[in-house]
Amino acid sequence: AGEALFDRRGRSVRDLRISVTDRCNFRCIYCMPREVFDDDYAFLPRRDLLSFEEILRVAKLFVARGVKKIRITGGEPLLRKNVERLIEMLARLDGVEVTLTTNGVLLPKMARSLKDAGLHRVTVSLDALDDALFRRMNDADYPVGKVLEGIAAAQAVGLGPIKVNMVVKRGTNDSDIEPMAAHFRHSGHILRFIEFMDVGASNGWKMDEVLPSQAVVARIDRLYPLEPVDPNYTGEVAERWRYKDGAGEIGVISSVTQAFCSTCTRIRLSTEGKLYTCLFAQTGHDLRSLLRAGADDAALDAAIAHVWQGREDRYSEIRTAETAALRKIEMSYIGG
Ligand code: GTP
Ligand code: 5AD
Ligand code: SF4
Ligand code: SF4
Repeated sequence: AGEALFDRRGRSVRDLRISVTDRCNFRCIYCMPREVFDDDYAFLPRRDLLSFEEILRVAKLFVARGVKKIRITGGEPLLRKNVERLIEMLARLDGVEVTLTTNGVLLPKMARSLKDAGLHRVTVSLDALDDALFRRMNDADYPVGKVLEGIAAAQAVGLGPIKVNMVVKRGTNDSDIEPMAAHFRHSGHILRFIEFMDVGASNGWKMDEVLPSQAVVARIDRLYPLEPVDPNYTGEVAERWRYKDGAGEIGVISSVTQAFCSTCTRIRLSTEGKLYTCLFAQTGHDLRSLLRAGADDAALDAAIAHVWQGREDRYSEIRTAETAALRKIEMSYIGG
């Protein structure tokens, strides 16, 4: 162990995204449509989930191989029982930043304990400011006020600067682009617009429901002039823009119109212990059976190295209507 790993396109592994549950209290229309994720939907049984100890073992090996950022995802990660305990374990690893992506409604209750556990930052998803529209987007009748409270709670305990993710679905919530921009100017939070993606196989993705980020930037720029900002680091997913009047910064994530695969350093660990080398993968690599068969660290590390070294993914660069219709893993399973 210890040597940096490179995949077949020369990319190293820097970011580990760990999904801790496939369940969610929301039913966002672009992620967990109710027709599919209904009362009969078979979520993973408890025994199938990796334990925190198992997750930690895998994370440690990745850190030894160069991972610098760990992001906890879901489903909704705050639904995983005692998730703070996992965060505490991960935050103790040397030289890694631990962050979490959440829908925000549990933050008023949990922000303090998350901060105390050592979490560095949170990213909160928020797809509309208008209450009726927000309820239609999450399809679980959560009012927008709950998420705004969550953002405020996270800010208050020092989990900021907070990134706020808005998935833009053309014809559905693009009417709220300008109101969202207006709301988060001067807030210190970084609002990011994400192009609607063909993740999974159940969200009915169509190209004409994608609003290109370029159009988002143009629409905001008309109201509040913007200028580009250099990336924080190579391979940053979001393209940064700042308001010329000093009101802060926004970002756009353009996986559909401007693929960023050539610098993709991310790997994902699913709730049940499979490694996915791409958000749009169709299959994962099972680590859980190795873990549970008593493999030692050397054997686990060899398996991890093998997976990364065989990686060739560049899905966003080769997306077509045909690939969009493939049976890919669901976003709620792999965490985005
Ligand atoms: P920070 O800059 O540290 O906040 O990390 P980040 O920009 O990766 O933040 P985040 O994890 O919130 O990513 C934002 C969103 O971008 C995700 O939720 C996805 O929707 C999308 N995204 C992230 N990584 C990938 C990727 O590898 N491929 C694609 N296609 N989309 C991605
Ligand atoms: N397209 C783009 N973004 C998505 N997300 C979930 N599904 C999609 C999709 N189909 C976003 C969530 C959250 C992050 C984890 O990914 O809103 O911000
Ligand atoms: Fe839940 Fe996030 Fe998917 Fe919405 S996008 S259903 S909050 S996992
Ligand atoms: Fe990385 Fe796959 Fe996303 Fe491309 S499509 S940036 S390879 S996760």
